Amino acid sequence: MDEFSYAHRDTSYAGGLNKPNIPEELQRIREEAFASEIPVAADDTLCFLMAQAAAVRPESILELGTAVGTTSIAMAFACPQARITTVERDRAFYEAALVNFGKCGISGRVTAVCGDAGEVIERLEDPFDLIFMDCAKVQYIKYLPRLKQLLRNGGVLIADDVLLYGWASGEAEVPKKRKMLARHIREYIDAVTSDPELFTCIIKAGDGVALSVKR
Ligand SMILES: C[S@@+](CC[C@H](N)C(=O)[O-])C[C@H]1O[C@@H](n2cnc3c(N)ncnc32)[C@H](O)[C@@H]1O
Repeated sequence: MDEFSYAHRDTSYAGGLNKPNIPEELQRIREEAFASEIPVAADDTLCFLMAQAAAVRPESILELGTAVGTTSIAMAFACPQARITTVERDRAFYEAALVNFGKCGISGRVTAVCGDAGEVIERLEDPFDLIFMDCAKVQYIKYLPRLKQLLRNGGVLIADDVLLYGWASGEAEVPKKRKMLARHIREYIDAVTSDPELFTCIIKAGDGVALSVKR
């Protein structure tokens, strides 16, 4: 759990106003995940993700970092026409996600892969309309070139947790243990905001998302 210890701070910015419009079964799964300290998206991030996904109307979605499946299920709910490929390296989380996809009736639309995201994205071939990256933050910069190839023109890449409590922008001092993480995230932000093939906006939703649209 130390790997996620930085991911449990309260980063709500909207004073509790964001309330995801989701089925009861998904809310139950989220509450169990919160109670077990599994790092799943809080209300602000989930509302942002679902609103974006509904606007993009993707046919194909790629998610890196399934955990127990809450964001996959939320995107499936927001985009009833979409097929989702989601990647998780932790076998226990992957298996829990499979059960949760069954409970929410979306197993037929989801390809869940247990493996390392960096390896899996090299094997994928289909282009995606929407990519949600929510795995090891330190790897975002490494995955970016391949994700750009996998993203259809006009497609949207959303990277979660890029503000890191103000560490990335320099507004808050970075703890010694997190300096490398903050440096890599900063590299990701610099790369997506200066890339001539992308239009990017960093948005204060949850702990910050980078929303990039491929020209
Ligand atoms: C923040 S959680 C994902 C939460 C999920 N998107 C949600 O909100 O329901 C990050 C997940 O990414 C997984 N992960 C981290 N690095 C990974 C990698 N290189 N490949 C695949 N999964 C990875 C972790 O095991 C963890 O379950």
